[in-house]
Amino acid sequence: MSIQQPKEIFLKDYRPLDFEIESVDLTFELDPSETLVTNRMKFVRKTDQSQLKLDGEHLVLVSIEKDGKILDQEDFYLTETDLTLNCPEQQFELVVKTRINPEANTRLEGLYRSSGNYCTQCEAEGFRTITYYLDRPDCLSYFTTKIIGDECENKVLLSNGNLIEFGELEGGKHFAVWEDPHKKPCYLFALVAGNLEVVEGHFETKDSRRVDLRLYVQENNLDKCDHAMASLKKSMKWDEERFGLIYDLDVYMVVAVDDFNMGAMENKGLNVFNSKFVLAKPETATDVDFEGIESVIAHEYFHNWTGNRVTCRDWFQLTLKEGLTIFRDQEFTSDMLSPAVKRIEDVKRLRSFQFPEDAGPMSHPIQPQSYIEMNNFYTMTVYEKGAEVVRLYQTLLGRDGFRKGMDLYFDRFDGQAVTVEDFRNAMADANQRDLSQMHHWYIQPGTPKVTVTKQYDAGNKTLSLSFKQTLNGKQEHLPLLIPVVFDVLSPSNEAALSFSLSEVDQSRCSRADNGWLFELTKHDESLVLQGVEEEGYLSLFRGFSAPILLDYACTQDELVALASYDSDSFVRWESIQTLALMNLIENVQAVEDNREMVLSEYYAKALESNLADTSLDLALKSLAITLPDESYLQEALSDKGMLINTDSILAVYGYMKQTIAEKFESSLLAIYQQMQSSEAYRYDKDAIAHRMLKNRCLNYLSKLPAQQDWMQTQFDQQSNMTDVFAALEAMKPYDSVWKKANLADFYHKWNHDDLVLDKWFALQASDQSDSALDLVKSLVEHADFHYTNPNRARSVLGVFGRMNMKGFHHASGEGYAFLASEVLKLDKINPQVAARIVSPFTQWKRYDVARQEKMKSQLTKLIESGSLSKDVYEIVSKSLK
Ligand code: ARG
Ligand code: ZN
Repeated sequence: MSIQQPKEIFLKDYRPLDFEIESVDLTFELDPSETLVTNRMKFVRKTDQSQLKLDGEHLVLVSIEKDGKILDQEDFYLTETDLTLNCPEQQFELVVKTRINPEANTRLEGLYRSSGNYCTQCEAEGFRTITYYLDRPDCLSYFTTKIIGDECENKVLLSNGNLIEFGELEGGKHFAVWEDPHKKPCYLFALVAGNLEVVEGHFETKDSRRVDLRLYVQENNLDKCDHAMASLKKSMKWDEERFGLIYDLDVYMVVAVDDFNMGAMENKGLNVFNSKFVLAKPETATDVDFEGIESVIAHEYFHNWTGNRVTCRDWFQLTLKEGLTIFRDQEFTSDMLSPAVKRIEDVKRLRSFQFPEDAGPMSHPIQPQSYIEMNNFYTMTVYEKGAEVVRLYQTLLGRDGFRKGMDLYFDRFDGQAVTVEDFRNAMADANQRDLSQMHHWYIQPGTPKVTVTKQYDAGNKTLSLSFKQTLNGKQEHLPLLIPVVFDVLSPSNEAALSFSLSEVDQSRCSRADNGWLFELTKHDESLVLQGVEEEGYLSLFRGFSAPILLDYACTQDELVALASYDSDSFVRWESIQTLALMNLIENVQAVEDNREMVLSEYYAKALESNLADTSLDLALKSLAITLPDESYLQEALSDKGMLINTDSILAVYGYMKQTIAEKFESSLLAIYQQMQSSEAYRYDKDAIAHRMLKNRCLNYLSKLPAQQDWMQTQFDQQSNMTDVFAALEAMKPYDSVWKKANLADFYHKWNHDDLVLDKWFALQASDQSDSALDLVKSLVEHADFHYTNPNRARSVLGVFGRMNMKGFHHASGEGYAFLASEVLKLDKINPQVAARIVSPFTQWKRYDVARQEKMKSQLTKLIESGSLSKDVYEIVSKSLK
């Protein structure tokens, strides 16, 4: 048995560069299987070290030349991962020629082919599979790129920056030369070539420059670009207004490709996107898809400043650009749609996906301290928790203070590769504040818990609040700076109670837009509110003011009150979620003790008041009547030290949905009918909220035999993909002839459109009927299933592992065996995607003993296969520790 042990890289080992690369001149002679890359680099030596080690993998070295002289075999040392040579000169020029095979590149990093076109993905370390280079983000250089290709097959030849030359060549070839005037690290390099069509637009910057906007897509997708183009213009405008950041080239290009490992990539001036985040029209894309496009287009555009102009010193600083850019795209979406809804959706996402990651074997701080495969650290923690930490600065400093910090950050670091400390210092210095304690958020893994207790003294009219913070169940951590936004509400008239603070407390607690801001800095701390007329209700962590777990023994009456009228929409929603969660947990216990399940009267009361509230925003109403995600319940059960039996969870959700549907049938039906609209699809806040609430009601109604026809009626209307897909979702639990007939119809209508077909696959991969497991096995045998296409693999295998409790956690263990064997197949083709697909196994310790053993034995089998990629190896081996 051979167990590979790839090398671990540590932050503490970071050393500055010994050599700088002043300029890079690349020439690509494109060929599907034998592309020749000529790389001319001007080096300057910066230290006494004369040994130059260049990164390079999956390359065929053709030749190396130094200062015009071809080097012999004995002049350099070549391994599978690098090329070393002695360079005592102060300055010198290297010309390295390599041959690569784009067609055989199924890993989809470096230069590869997708739907007959050439494209690249270099972040994090893909550039080294194109040519030998100092493939690290602190190596900034000026790039010029010449692309030579067959004219018939490559109408467009694109790279970063501005087109400076193009022309015909003999033998049916042509060329283009692109020059990027901005220094950049090689992970931002891009090349695209092929027969793509273009949709053009333009944007006038606030300093009156014209920027040409170009979306490159395949011809059959030309009718699906309007939304992406509109989103790009909105993003450009928003970044000028909110952060004063203006685009810095004359052209901005976005290319949609079908085969892409992640969402999209911010290559300078030439973004490459998963087509899922570009293409949409109402018939093919849901509201969620439209929102995804708007936010990913914005995200990549915002990277032009936060990521490209100021980049990362090393990959341990990834959150510097990703946490910040996610925060920026969240703020953008919040301004475009509804701030309240956006905040709740982001919190749901964080809890459902980041909290479990932080509680599992892959737990890492937002600034990881080591990694085996960097691609495994493009995580919810680095991105979403990182964004929450950036949000903390804004909560502490206010919007204006945050903006001052951003301005100083760009003044100081434009054109540089920097660290998270540099960002924090800019925030601190711009606001004359000591923010050094914020460092503790960057270096400690785990979700902090804040325990709050209150004590009212009616005689002295004081309300004492005490706060205690723990991390991973202990108080041994470096204490975090936690902003607690709160208010105290009168139980009698819903208004905020007034109070005063001692002089000392005034420095720790001040007025904020949405209540009071208390800065918790110690492990244990208390705050005394004076002159409080009655024992109020506490509205805590308004707007989810910190990414923590709250432990506060709130009475159910208090929760019902907050759920019905708290002016903070987050706390209002949170209170009803807490009631639901308490009810779900009670029922899990009931199932396990063989008792009857119940719908709690408190939760029912809160549902009733939210359903009846005619002044409540429709999207918030929809969120209010939605049960917490299954993964959030699992999280809560684990937090209580309970092992998860997925059969109980399925039973509890089945019961709750059914009971809510029965109890509120008439209001659900009335709302469903009110929400009907005969207007054409519009993508705006109001129309989205209508559809969201309507489809939530449909989902409940579908549980009632008397109301089941609505699913078919809505499906038959075929008004837009949001409604059609919601109807199919509602049908999912039924093992019926009509469901199968509708799925078949859907397939026939859409099998020419890969993105829609992905939905068809995903829907079935998450099937919860009794045949769930057989169904997914048949999906990988389907003629339209391809392991080489990441979207398709994720639609089936990713969805199965994450969203198919019934099939994946089938008591026989067959679901586990199936997914593990699929991971092995996929790992040979695309390790990055395989590493994502294997991740549901990381949670094995949460499940009941029988399931734990079955999951663990699959992990062991994977390790013992002895042939895992670094990507999958890292996740599996850490899970077994
Ligand atoms: N920087 C990209 C983003 O916008 C993500 C690229 C990650 N790609 C990868 N192979 N790890 O978030
Ligand atoms: Zn990003």
